[in-house]
Amino acid sequence: MHKCSRKKTQLYLLSVFFAFFVLSFILIHDDASTKPGDDGGRRLILKPSFPTFTTTNASTHKTEKWVVGELPSGASDWSKATKACAHTQSYNGRPSSRVKYHWGKESRSNECNAFSGRWVYDNYSYPLYDEAGCPYMSDQLACRKHGRPDRDYQKWRWQPRGCDLKRWNATEMLEKLRGKRLMFVGDSLNRGQWISMVCLVQSVIPSGKKLMTPNSALTKFIAKEYNASIEFYWAPLIVESNSDDPINHRLSDRIIRPDSLLRHASEWAKADILVFNSYLWWRSGPKIKLLWSYSGGVCEEADGKEAMKLALETWADWIESSVNPLKHRVFFVTMSPTHLWSQEWNPGSDGNCFQEKAPIEMEGHWGNGSDLNAMQMVDEIMARLGPIVTVLNITQLSEYRKDGHPSIYRKFWETLSQQQLANPVSYADCIHWCLPGVPDVWNELLFNSL
Ligand SMILES: *[C@@H]1O[C@H](CO)[C@@H](O)[C@H](O)[C@H]1NC(C)=O
Ligand SMILES: *[C@@H]1O[C@H](CO)[C@@H](O)[C@H](O)[C@H]1NC(C)=O
Ligand SMILES: *[C@@H]1O[C@H](CO)[C@@H](O)[C@H](O)[C@H]1NC(C)=O
Ligand SMILES: *[C@@H]1O[C@H](CO)[C@@H](O)[C@H](O)[C@H]1NC(C)=O
Ligand SMILES: *[C@@H]1O[C@H](CO)[C@@H](O)[C@H](O)[C@H]1NC(C)=O
Repeated sequence: MHKCSRKKTQLYLLSVFFAFFVLSFILIHDDASTKPGDDGGRRLILKPSFPTFTTTNASTHKTEKWVVGELPSGASDWSKATKACAHTQSYNGRPSSRVKYHWGKESRSNECNAFSGRWVYDNYSYPLYDEAGCPYMSDQLACRKHGRPDRDYQKWRWQPRGCDLKRWNATEMLEKLRGKRLMFVGDSLNRGQWISMVCLVQSVIPSGKKLMTPNSALTKFIAKEYNASIEFYWAPLIVESNSDDPINHRLSDRIIRPDSLLRHASEWAKADILVFNSYLWWRSGPKIKLLWSYSGGVCEEADGKEAMKLALETWADWIESSVNPLKHRVFFVTMSPTHLWSQEWNPGSDGNCFQEKAPIEMEGHWGNGSDLNAMQMVDEIMARLGPIVTVLNITQLSEYRKDGHPSIYRKFWETLSQQQLANPVSYADCIHWCLPGVPDVWNELLFNSL
């Protein structure tokens, strides 16, 4: 009896460790992705340190501008930061947020909550576009192309309880974007949502009237006749960090500047509609190193959740001081759930999302990958910001979609070993989402809120 439970504990610890490993591994490797639609198979090269650019004084960042395709100069400071962070002390609890006024939670009891509902199989209206028909598709998300045999994951409609979503209409979306810049800011999950948005609208634009710029810190899809752009800005930790290079981002030793984001924000400020996300990157490492702007060379460290809070508070300060609600719309996409443990929906099993073909039916299912405390922290920050930010609360609805991940049907940037190939569960990607698929619905919710 005793022995048995110890074995169970060991097994549990092993599975937690394993899931942690898979999460880190996939996050390290995925973002090396090439530009959307690029089949060239550019591999991620994990460099020992960050590429160095011309060094500039940190104080010049605020006014610095850079052009698309180039990284901001000054990105080099990370070699110095790495040296400073060779020794750390724990975070001493300095308050960082300056957001003062509190809105309190919005009470919208008589409004329909579009994020609460169920998935309805609808092979009449879905998918909203054809995977192979989207020239900007990413090889990381093109599941059919990479051998996924089933197709039902493309055919689910989100049905809120008590109201209907407006039907997707690409022309109407483009009209909403006329003369505007829509910018997605965040990590690879947010990039998936950006590619989904591009694929959702691009088919109604004739060739020659649309354009995609090369992959860089800021990548733009341009709809010429609408004078509109749909852009993606890589900033997985929101504030400045040593993971800001869209291709080479080290993960083993993450350093952030918890109170600095002006270099990013100078680009964000040019957008009319901003869609942020940030979550998984805070979870996939042990400790995060903090280098404050007035640190005097002292480097602190904090756990992921604490660091995430500091970063989001800095972000909230920026939103509050820089966003004009009459001119800008700001959205925040809540955490994207993972499906790393099949025992969460199928007790006794020991797989993950691999070979899952249908959504979870249990209402209110909430997986262990979605941290309720982190959600509460996000709740509090959003409540402080009030109506300036619209929350796209996609966590619960995406929790149901254990069938929506690429699992083994995507391009993997590293070579898989015989051992891995023999055990597909070991390398299945249960973090990102196939397209067409779940992120299309996130964009329908965005479309409904614009
Ligand atoms: C949709 O699904 C139903 C039931 O599975 C099937 O009978 C029908 O042929 C399908 N329609 C299309 C257009 O695929
Ligand atoms: C889509 O929107 C456009 C522009 O608003 C409108 O002209 C068109 O009728 C809509 N299409 C559908 C199917 O509703
Ligand atoms: C195109 O949109 C930008 C803003 O994104 C605006 O500054 C510019 O004036 C617009 N150009 C035309 C021709 O409408
Ligand atoms: C998820 O968390 C619950 C509660 O902490 C725990 O009982 C369960 O074993 C966990 N499941 C997995 C797969 O880790
Ligand atoms: C998102 O929805 C969940 C329930 O699914 C709720 O607990 C949480 O507070 C919501 N978060 C935000 C930021 O609105």
